[in-house]
Amino acid sequence: MKVTMVMLSSIDGKTTQGNNKNVYVWSSKEDQRHFFSLIKKNNLIVMGRATYEASKPVIKLEKGKLRIILTRNPKKYSDQVVKDQLEFSGESPEKLLKQLSLLGYKEILLVGGSAINSLFLKQNLIDELYLTIEPKIFGSGKNITEGQLLDKCLQLISIKKLNKAGTLLLKYKINK
Ligand SMILES: NC(=O)c1ccc[n+]([C@@H]2O[C@H](COP(=O)([O-])OP(=O)(O)OC[C@H]3O[C@@H](n4cnc5c(N)ncnc54)[C@H](OP(=O)(O)O)[C@@H]3O)[C@@H](O)[C@H]2O)c1
Repeated sequence: MKVTMVMLSSIDGKTTQGNNKNVYVWSSKEDQRHFFSLIKKNNLIVMGRATYEASKPVIKLEKGKLRIILTRNPKKYSDQVVKDQLEFSGESPEKLLKQLSLLGYKEILLVGGSAINSLFLKQNLIDELYLTIEPKIFGSGKNITEGQLLDKCLQLISIKKLNKAGTLLLKYKINK
């Protein structure tokens, strides 16, 4: 299973501006275009429960695209389940990937947040990372990873300047 992680960060490594959960107030339209083109291309998207809550207003469920939300309490969300489109799981990333492989899925787009990124990285499950860096400094906010001691090495594959302000789109391979 190929796992691609996609994240947006400020220059000082923040994925949220302080406590504000809405990243669309500071992400460039070029990054939004990039992010939504990945969402369009992928039919399996995984995210943490807090990311789901934060991005609910922009999530458009559709046939043929499965979103899996990781939570320790999947039963709590049973009334929100839309079979094959929006499902909740309390499995470990490793077990979840095995189950999804058995169902025939070959690729996952992992869209955060920090806690879930760390779980996947800790278990060596991520193959590549798209990281957009907006030329902004926030001083406070969430990080790309959280809650696990990690020691990962990455290899830069490509770098692209997305606009005049200097929003950068970096693509990395994650060494396993
Ligand atoms: N800039 C970006 O690219 C970007 C991307 C994504 C998110 N974000 C932002 O980051 C914030 C969310 O990140 P976050 O780190 O707080 O949360 P998160 O990683 O999205 O979700 C954390 C939740 O995942 C569940 N979880 C944690 N460990 C688990 C495990 N072992 N098994 C199953 N479920 C587990 C728990 O849900 P329960 O509490 O339900 O058990 C936990 O509260 C939001 O503000 C969002 O806007 C930014």
